Amino acid sequence: MDVVLNYLKGNQKRFVEELCDYVRFPSVSAQPKHGEDMTNCATWLVKHCKAIGLEARLCPTDGHPIVLAKTPRKKGARKRHFMVYGHYDVQPPEPFELWKTPPFEPTIRGRSLIARGASDNKGQNLAHLKAVEAYLKTRQELPCDLTFVIEGEEEVGSKSLGAFLQKHREELRCDAVVVSDTGIPSKQHPALTYALRGIAAFEIILRGPDRDLHSGIFGGSVQNPAIVLAQLLAKVHDAQGRVAIPGFYAGVAKLSDFERKQMARVPFNRGAYRKLLGVPELFGERGFTPDEQRTARPTFEINGLTSGYQGDGSKTIVPAWARAKITTRLVPNQQPAKVIKAVRTFLEKNCPPTVTLEIKSGHGAEAYMVSPRSTNAQAALRALKKAFGREPVLLREGGSIPIVNQFQKILGADTLLLGLALPDDNAHSPNEKFDLDLFAQGQRMSALLWRELAL
Ligand code: BES
Ligand code: ZN
Repeated sequence: MDVVLNYLKGNQKRFVEELCDYVRFPSVSAQPKHGEDMTNCATWLVKHCKAIGLEARLCPTDGHPIVLAKTPRKKGARKRHFMVYGHYDVQPPEPFELWKTPPFEPTIRGRSLIARGASDNKGQNLAHLKAVEAYLKTRQELPCDLTFVIEGEEEVGSKSLGAFLQKHREELRCDAVVVSDTGIPSKQHPALTYALRGIAAFEIILRGPDRDLHSGIFGGSVQNPAIVLAQLLAKVHDAQGRVAIPGFYAGVAKLSDFERKQMARVPFNRGAYRKLLGVPELFGERGFTPDEQRTARPTFEINGLTSGYQGDGSKTIVPAWARAKITTRLVPNQQPAKVIKAVRTFLEKNCPPTVTLEIKSGHGAEAYMVSPRSTNAQAALRALKKAFGREPVLLREGGSIPIVNQFQKILGADTLLLGLALPDDNAHSPNEKFDLDLFAQGQRMSALLWRELAL
């Protein structure tokens, strides 16, 4: 094992340079103009996987290609098989003007690498590849067989991966999936995440007049769809911060004492948290702590709100339409379709006849929860403790990785979520960064993990 860990230690400088090469690709899956960059990034990954000794190939899909890479299999040896999942696509970098350095020109400041995708998910993902490289290049036998699946559509709902898993389900059958695409509370708190929130996305479109109207000539005699939208959305929450849609909380389980105890192991400072987020005051559903609110309670968020004129100066109109992009985050026992139905009923009931209402439902996924007491989870906790030299904590997280449900359904495999992102990594925000100490520790954790999981 020392040989592997020493190899990691001795090659950090090159690994960081390689991570810089990886984040230089503007692999923004949401924007069609980056189609070629997506393929180039995936091709670079395949080449990189081959260079470190993996058998790798580029798998075209209806969307962006998927990278599939395997450790060389030893004939006759029956090893446990694990799949490592990650994504090479990144969120759009906009607004550019808020970046202190350009998003796709990696910059190192102190122990941080700043670039879009550094933390979510290229840095976390590369850590696993570097751990495998260490085994292969030092000719140390890998204790497990590994298959890497690195997709390019995670940030847009993993549309092609389900069919890919179906098609390759024999090849991908495994004992568990390992994913580093979540967070840890601080460098002092390595963590195993045992729950993620689910999601249900939809869009509300209200239509009033069949074109924008002069607000002086006609305003007052027709309903303004932007005002109706504001009124409707204002009814969604009550004064306690609860979602007032009947049925929204149906089936939502209470936190157990065990879970509350786990949460309490991570120190929480309201002032520091408020500062981190740059808000004048915190807000959330009454009766729950901020950690409970953001990880174990369902929410209803407006992600985008558009109507009327947004350009320079003013334009006196009654807009023809108003739209809102919404996502609700879900917790165990909530089903996206049922939640959308409850929302639809609520909006239809409250929408006046002066406008027409359309609700377009989008992607959805149930929440994810696994036992932190399983044999695999215990192995992961041992690897975390050895790599970080600290007792790991158990986390519920608020974000979603919808595909982990498919790993369970299609491959019959649970997912071990071993995140390396810090709360101030600015995932999805300007000035995203990744901590280079965590990059190195993640590699060690990965190297140790395969030994623990093989036991
Ligand atoms: N890495 C995140 C998910 C995440 C982050 C989970 C932190 C837990 C803690 C992932 O890249 C992501 O952003 N997922 C999307 C999914 C959506 C597009 C369906 C999300 O959570 O918004
Ligand atoms: Zn993300």
